[in-house]
Amino acid sequence: MSQNYQLHTVFPSCLYVAEVENAAQINKAMLPYIYEMREQDRANIKDPEMLSVFENEVWSTYFSHPGIGLLKEPWTQELQRAILENTEQLVNLLQLDFGKRKPRVTTLFANIHEELYHRHDAHTHPGSMFSGSYFVKTYPGAGRFRLINPCRALQFHEFKFREDNELNVNEVSLDPVAGRLVMFQSHVPHAVDRPTARGERVAIAFNVNYE
Ligand SMILES: [Fe+2]
Repeated sequence: MSQNYQLHTVFPSCLYVAEVENAAQINKAMLPYIYEMREQDRANIKDPEMLSVFENEVWSTYFSHPGIGLLKEPWTQELQRAILENTEQLVNLLQLDFGKRKPRVTTLFANIHEELYHRHDAHTHPGSMFSGSYFVKTYPGAGRFRLINPCRALQFHEFKFREDNELNVNEVSLDPVAGRLVMFQSHVPHAVDRPTARGERVAIAFNVNYE
């Protein structure tokens, strides 16, 4: 076996994790508005069958407040500032050059996971540059956040590893922590696992583009 070799790590995927400043105050201020939005959504449903779907599914403003829905809400402004600051930090770490273009939060939606079967399957956010999630409220056993290797070729092989390491691992997951923000490039698939205990997991998902 050669003792004279090099092994380079190339084409990495980044998972950026940051603790947001003033998170306790931000979360305390945002939660009542999030609950109020959910109540409004519930009140807008007249069909009992639809109401039953509403009560069972993950609640998300993605459908009831599409587009700029939450972007204009005053109670999301401080969080949006934090998202943009952290995006710039990540962009600096990646040494990306956007010239005079500035980052803008283009999508912002709140989700509440409560039931043991609540989850989000793996997906990407086409058309965006950066995506992420900010955890507003969590509990022990809340659904873990999962990031998946974007190399699609690997999805067709069932590799087994003697031991996980940075070179072979194809999925990473972490527990959501209130006040923490996770961010990644939008082409990277991600998911929310089912929780292992019942509780309330409140998160705000976002996309950012440089324009
Ligand atoms: Fe997502």
